Amino acid sequence: MSGCPFLAKKHQLFTSKHLTDEDDDAQKGINRASKGGIVYGDYLELNKVLDAQVLQSELKGNKIHDEHLFIITHQAYELWFKQILWELDSVRELFINDGMRDERNMLKVVSRIHRITMIFRLLVDQFAVLETMTAMDFYDFREYLTPASGFQSLQFRLLENKIGVVDSLRVPYNRRHYRDNFQGLDSKAILKSEQEPTLLKLVEQWLERTPGLETDGFDFWGKFEANVDQALKCEKQKIEKMPESETKQEMLEDLSKQTELFTSLFDSKRHEHLLSKGDRRLSFKALQGALMINFYREEPRFQVPFQLLTSLMEIDTLMTKWRYNHVCMVHRMIGSKAGTGGSSGYHYLRSTVSDRYKVFVDLFNLATYLVPRSWIPKLNPNIHKFLYTAECYDSSYSSSSSCSSCSSEDSE
Ligand code: HEM
Repeated sequence: MSGCPFLAKKHQLFTSKHLTDEDDDAQKGINRASKGGIVYGDYLELNKVLDAQVLQSELKGNKIHDEHLFIITHQAYELWFKQILWELDSVRELFINDGMRDERNMLKVVSRIHRITMIFRLLVDQFAVLETMTAMDFYDFREYLTPASGFQSLQFRLLENKIGVVDSLRVPYNRRHYRDNFQGLDSKAILKSEQEPTLLKLVEQWLERTPGLETDGFDFWGKFEANVDQALKCEKQKIEKMPESETKQEMLEDLSKQTELFTSLFDSKRHEHLLSKGDRRLSFKALQGALMINFYREEPRFQVPFQLLTSLMEIDTLMTKWRYNHVCMVHRMIGSKAGTGGSSGYHYLRSTVSDRYKVFVDLFNLATYLVPRSWIPKLNPNIHKFLYTAECYDSSYSSSSSCSSCSSEDSE
């Protein structure tokens, strides 16, 4: 053997003596199950879960192998929907209980929303397993499912509603209200989910309290409007001084479009109009808060809120991807045949892959209003200090806060 200590050790590792010792050690473990208490199968109630795959094809005397995969896949989806609802309800509760005035809850909210996005990633990819089934394999047992359909998934509808999908923006399904597919307790649960505060509403209320929006304080919006107005005027003067040319005309046209864009951003009446059409979802004030968080996201107190806004967009993105992957699979499995639930199938589902179903669409659109850093109002020392210090965790964002060092009151 060489003098290399590593090799010497390696040599030792493979002696039969050493293996025997390890085996001995392994045997010293205690079989706790033999001493009573709950065991794996009972804890997970596996007798219920693993007994819940009833093949309709088998019941009808024509067992089709792939129906097992079809059932397991749907059940796996429903289990994950359940976990998403669990996280979503807890997040909504945190918002409802104190409106997120206790900032310590923020990390909890962000972690749980992040968890939801991780589950959605899994759900988006999970269709690939079901796609190992061919259209013909599916055809073999499809008749046994009718009229069951994913359209009747209670948890999927609860999920959409609790996040904030707007009822009036839903694609009509067989000229019937989607709720008509549910009866009894399910129908009540759906109705309740439509009436309770959605994640969108709760986030909206929280954004409306973004520190720095107070008109008698830092007045972010007033300052931002003034800066943009001034900057656009400067730009115009600069372009107008240029000699006549095609480029100059193009620059003036671009500037005029940009001016129009910002005029509409600062116009509260226009915002109300867009809200009524469903083109905007957040209140005027909440939109201002979201833009403020985007601009000053590097300030310590805005870092976690910024992560939250990013994760909320991620939820929308992943749900859209879920709808897209589902519709692609449906197209492949049934072509343009009607669905077992009675919709036009592929055509109906294709129309749901749209911004109508995006809840946090305003957060995506914020990127339209990004401006050069020099146009962003400079933080004054008061608001800067407030955004920098996070030691007063449970202070309210409101100016009536009992803690003066965290007051968002601002005077220049
Ligand atoms: C072979 C596989 C699948 C086919 C052919 C299929 C087909 C369809 C069709 C045609 C619809 C429209 C409603 C109808 O008329 O029935 C639908 C809706 C739906 N499916 Fe599937 N599906 C499949 C797999 C899945 C899986 C694995 C899930 C997971 C839970 C799922 C969940 C849903 C949901 C939630 C809806 C309602 C979507 C909405 O209205 O926006 N489907 N499906």
